[in-house]
Amino acid sequence: MAIFGRKSSPAEFSVLPRHLGIIMDGNGRWAKKRGLPRTAGHKVGADVFKKISKECGRLGIEEVTFYAFSTENWKRPKEEIETLMRLFYDYLIEAKNDLQASGDIRVRFIGEKEGMHPKLLELMRDAEQETASRTGTLVNVAVNYGGRQEIADAVNSLIAAGKKSVTPEDISAKLFTSADCDLIIRPSGEQRLSNFLLWQSAYSEFWYSDVLWPDFTEKDLHAALSDFEKRNRRFGG
Ligand code: FPP
Repeated sequence: MAIFGRKSSPAEFSVLPRHLGIIMDGNGRWAKKRGLPRTAGHKVGADVFKKISKECGRLGIEEVTFYAFSTENWKRPKEEIETLMRLFYDYLIEAKNDLQASGDIRVRFIGEKEGMHPKLLELMRDAEQETASRTGTLVNVAVNYGGRQEIADAVNSLIAAGKKSVTPEDISAKLFTSADCDLIIRPSGEQRLSNFLLWQSAYSEFWYSDVLWPDFTEKDLHAALSDFEKRNRRFGG
């Protein structure tokens, strides 16, 4: 451990969020500032996703959910959607060919399966199965995800199972992830939830920054975690 400079040991945070949510925002603006197409921002953003998910693993965060593609993002230009799908595909192929590179991370894809390419779904299932026995950080990648749809689907499956009335616990148990989200990070200066983890964010702390996602570094993650350590969470009590 270095005597000067910041400590790099996971022990540097006395409290970590058990479940961290990250809205990867600002790719388009990052590219525009450089006179590049929006897709260039997404490409760099995908590398940042890999870097930050590894850092979450190193720090020992139990679960982290990255917002990669919302149910509303289908409204974007065709070329942009194709680039994003290609980035997911490349990530999955990379993960398949080099399982060791992702360390001890477990990967899970959360979101609607309908509308997704069958090949992508197959690779997602493979990645989930191949990493399922790992014990490290659970990385949820939210693709074709919408918080309202997630809740509606949960209620519908309870109705289909014959329930006449439902409790919050019933709904939680049917979501893609039941874990309450402790901290949500949103870079790029925007301060909204955008249909992300609506149910799980009931008692989330929020951390915003003007940094655009492609410029987001481990240092920014540490800044958010340092801030989270100091929050006084009362959960309504
Ligand atoms: C929002 O920024 C970002 C997205 C809609 C896409 C996020 C996806 C990635 C970073 C790729 C993830 C890759 C893998 C492999 C999981 P924006 O484009 O809306 O930015 P803007 O608000 O500046 O226009």
